[in-house]
Amino acid sequence: MSHIVIDGARTQGQISPYLYGQFAEHLGRCVYGGLWVGTKSEIPNTNGLRNDVVAALRELHVPVLRWPGGCFADTYHWEAGIGPRDQRQRIVNTNWGGVVENNHFGTHEYFELLRQLNAEAYVNGNVGSGSVQEMAAWVEYMTFAGESPQADRRRANGHPDPWPLKFFGVGNESWGCGGNMRPEYYADLYRRYQTFVANSAADQPVYKIASGPNVDDYHWTETLMQRAAPLMDGLSLHHYALAAAWENKRPALGFPESEWYSLLHSAQRMDELITKHSTIMDRYDPDQRIGLIVDEWGSWLAVEPGTNPGFLFQQNTIRDAMVAAVTLHIFQHHAKRVKMANIAQVANVLQAMVLTEGNQMVKTPTYYVFKMLIPHKKATALATLDTLSDTTSASVSHSEAGYFASLCNFSADAADEVKLDFSRPITTVSGERLMGQQMDAHNDFDHPDTVQPQPLTSMQIQEGSLSLCLPPMSLTTVKVLCD
Ligand code: AHR
Repeated sequence: MSHIVIDGARTQGQISPYLYGQFAEHLGRCVYGGLWVGTKSEIPNTNGLRNDVVAALRELHVPVLRWPGGCFADTYHWEAGIGPRDQRQRIVNTNWGGVVENNHFGTHEYFELLRQLNAEAYVNGNVGSGSVQEMAAWVEYMTFAGESPQADRRRANGHPDPWPLKFFGVGNESWGCGGNMRPEYYADLYRRYQTFVANSAADQPVYKIASGPNVDDYHWTETLMQRAAPLMDGLSLHHYALAAAWENKRPALGFPESEWYSLLHSAQRMDELITKHSTIMDRYDPDQRIGLIVDEWGSWLAVEPGTNPGFLFQQNTIRDAMVAAVTLHIFQHHAKRVKMANIAQVANVLQAMVLTEGNQMVKTPTYYVFKMLIPHKKATALATLDTLSDTTSASVSHSEAGYFASLCNFSADAADEVKLDFSRPITTVSGERLMGQQMDAHNDFDHPDTVQPQPLTSMQIQEGSLSLCLPPMSLTTVKVLCD
């Protein structure tokens, strides 16, 4: 039994649309195959980008897309990815499967994808194996409108206008694949590199994001905040939901009930992590100017049998949908500090929105969570007074369109009765529900519609309160108008 009191709720801040951000890395079949098929492909495409995937992602109103990594970012040398595609350097993707990377998807193709998606840019720069000069030149190439060596080069490559570069990451996982650095050393490097992510070259100031902690490395956050806070706009945080120890990735399908809960509990840990990292940040940044940017999150499970272990291709079930809903609710509860989040990754890698194979594409249960929660974007998150069952997670927001509540019951077997008190006469309610009939319910190419939202049919309205039964393994959303 759960009870949510909306009346008189304090606000938790505006829900940034960027909390619903995506991430595309040169990893496995995310970029190549998932997004980019090339202009000569038989798969229907526009300027090399597959039409089915772009259309699906447009429905999600993707606000921002992080690129090119991840670990790949600290091996990426952007100049290899510009100019005539057939002349671009072929390199080895040393992080992900040791496969050949032909550099056909580079800066121009990335911004073309953003144009098609109507999404903002979040480019992750190379600190681990790149120079300050290389990073500065890339920013100049992307953003400078006047005459300059890099802007002239961009024009010669067919793009006269600069692109809007909203977000820029100065390194990725600098404590690990981005250079195995100590926080003290990285803090100094951050100070130096960010100096040359030249605001003067861009028409709009670039929002600079420092490479932040791994999970619960609070010393990293403390050191970065102490030494570089005034020079950063955001600090990243990475936390993946695991069903067991990191070294023991568990299957995405056919798992026992214990692993249903271990994955969900790992996802719930995001709340503690954000709270503790924010407490440290508050000491150096009491006005909460600096955003905590959770630019990698999601389920990390075992790869599907028979697939390349370096490609991180996993199926996506109603359990992952629960992970997404619980985590997005946590971000909304911390809306004042968490300014952006990017689920890993958008296609064919980890907790993906879409899976593709040749010319086929399927939308995952996680895709539908992102779609169902769209009305929360830009609304005001409400700090409701809740008494929730252990397996219910909720978030309520308010906007000109009225109240919007998302209610997730992640019990594997028990329904929950929930009552929402508005204390004002309710005039209209509409809603949707996503649920699974079994713990690993999922969509595949033969059964693409097994898990998808259905209209909500059953609820009781009594003056100022709304009562609903939340089935196990379900996400329910309601739009409520009051007098
Ligand atoms: O998202 C997959 C990988 O996970 C990223 O490349 C890296 O940053 C993280 O460890």
